[in-house]
Amino acid sequence: MLKELQLSLSAILLFACGFLYQFTLKSSCLFSCLPPFKSQQDLEALLSHGHSIVFLETSERMEPPPMVSCAVESAARIYPKRPVVFFMKGLSNSTQLPSNSTHPAFSLLSAIDNVFLFPLDMKRLFEDTPLSSWYSQINASAERNWLHVSSDASRLAIIWKYGGIYMDTDVISIKPIPEDNFLAAQASQYSSNGVFGFLPRHPFLWGCMENFIEHYDSDIWGNQGPNLITRMLRVWCKLGDFQEVSDLRCLNLSFLHPQRFYPISYPEWRRYYEVWDTVPSFNDSYALHLWNYMNQEGRTVVRGSNTLVENLYRKHCPRTYRVLIQGLEESVTGELGLGSQ
Ligand SMILES: *[C@@H]1O[C@H](CO)[C@@H](O)[C@H](O)[C@H]1NC(C)=O
Ligand SMILES: *[C@@H]1O[C@H](CO)[C@@H](O)[C@H](O)[C@H]1NC(C)=O
Ligand SMILES: *[C@@H]1O[C@H](CO)[C@@H](O)[C@H](O)[C@H]1NC(C)=O
Ligand SMILES: *[C@@H]1O[C@H](CO)[C@@H](O)[C@H](O)[C@H]1NC(C)=O
Ligand SMILES: *[C@@H]1O[C@H](CO)[C@@H](O)[C@H](O)[C@H]1NC(C)=O
Repeated sequence: MLKELQLSLSAILLFACGFLYQFTLKSSCLFSCLPPFKSQQDLEALLSHGHSIVFLETSERMEPPPMVSCAVESAARIYPKRPVVFFMKGLSNSTQLPSNSTHPAFSLLSAIDNVFLFPLDMKRLFEDTPLSSWYSQINASAERNWLHVSSDASRLAIIWKYGGIYMDTDVISIKPIPEDNFLAAQASQYSSNGVFGFLPRHPFLWGCMENFIEHYDSDIWGNQGPNLITRMLRVWCKLGDFQEVSDLRCLNLSFLHPQRFYPISYPEWRRYYEVWDTVPSFNDSYALHLWNYMNQEGRTVVRGSNTLVENLYRKHCPRTYRVLIQGLEESVTGELGLGSQ
């Protein structure tokens, strides 16, 4: 009797420890013991709830630029109860974890309670999906757009397997997306693949993965990305045009109005780097896609510039703003000039 009680008590204790482990390890851990979750089991446990927010870095880069840091931080703030999982290719074979002084953004993100950094293991990710045979045959070094193509493939597989929301690393979250199965319109009758969300194992994404390999042509930019999603959406739904700012629905899928993520369209992307007379409220939007791939001229966020993007950082990713954004004078004189305003 006593023995049984002991047994069940220890079982409960074990269970509680396992549970606590998930949350305490994270917060008690400084950068010296990162990443807090290394094992595949930890990853599966985290993703299995089906409501993660997923970001991807398919290059080997280990220090996220400010925009990436802002995207991840803003999502962590808007979805405090959901795990924000950032897959980084470069973590796959890193033995030495980056230090705070050389990798401030990496450290900053690791320190956020609901942000989890994991290695991106594509071979494993594509297992049990149509992408597996494609991946085993591809010669990545011969692919011109490999970083994009591998990212396009990975996001489909992750959200198909586990469910949740995928976001590009140049999307700033401003309010929760109240949808389970959705695609984001970039324009009338045209979907992006920069943000989308599904419940686990949704047949739409399975169809996308099949179409990915059937029509694979990596020399056409976007062929595996927005064009693929748009092709599939046209098969799945009979698309009309948007009316006012309402979303469209077909079957169990919502096709969200361009205002939700793209209130500033890509030809106008520089508007983010301009000073506005009045800062727009964006209250028809859930998140803002900043079109970073358009930014070949390397525009940056500057403290004190009062540009739209500076105001967005200050409001939606304050840690990134504090730690990573430099003022004009600081870039010359170092830490001086870091005024309280
Ligand atoms: C691992 O490290 C090596 C050497 O630094 C590098 O060439 C390689 O691209 C890295 N990534 C992977 C996934 O092997
Ligand atoms: C990194 O170092 C800076 C300056 O020493 C410090 O303010 C910050 O809290 C550290 N960040 C983390 C995540 O430990
Ligand atoms: C992969 O492509 C690279 C670059 O074109 C080439 O040098 C290499 O031989 C290819 N590898 C295989 C296994 O075909
Ligand atoms: C959504 O609709 C499709 C097609 O009707 C159906 O196969 C699928 O099971 C539905 N998924 C969910 C999660 O409701
Ligand atoms: C947007 O904000 C305005 C002014 O605060 C408000 O009247 C309107 O209802 C809001 N719209 C939405 C969709 O929240």
